[in-house]
Amino acid sequence: MESILINHELGKGEKYEALIPQIQALVEGETDVIANISNIIAAIRETFSFFWVGIYFVKAKGSEEELVLGPFQGPVACTRIRKGKGVCGSSWEQKKTIVVPDVELFPGHIACSSLSKSEIVVPVIVKDNVVAVLDVDSEFVAHFDETDKLYLEKIVKLIAAYL
Ligand code: SME
Repeated sequence: MESILINHELGKGEKYEALIPQIQALVEGETDVIANISNIIAAIRETFSFFWVGIYFVKAKGSEEELVLGPFQGPVACTRIRKGKGVCGSSWEQKKTIVVPDVELFPGHIACSSLSKSEIVVPVIVKDNVVAVLDVDSEFVAHFDETDKLYLEKIVKLIAAYL
């Protein structure tokens, strides 16, 4: 596969429906984790032109754990986030997707870029443990809703299969 083909006249849910089988085709036959996650992230960004799409992995730091930046598309970002901090650290701690319509109203939001206005973070769960979080940022307020949550949670399951 050489490119993602999405009709830009489709609605958001339809775009995700068109994207998911293409993501499956993209990762089929490749077992390398970073290669597959990198392509999944690029495919999401290419489809929706989101401001920032990326993954943070839960990694050990001494006796503790923290989130460490992994493959992403978009402007440079913060590299390490502690549990419970920001939207990413909260999603990790609470083991659930967090939709933030206005980042300025989220207590403790970590502003990697002042251009980011809304955000969705989806935990990647393997054997009941959060092993990573998928973070998507938009430069528009209230850009994410239940449709993004539904489909990004499906996409994250494809990522979880490699972790
Ligand atoms: N805003 C996130 C930090 C990561 S960046 O948006 C890429 C947060 O509050 O966790």
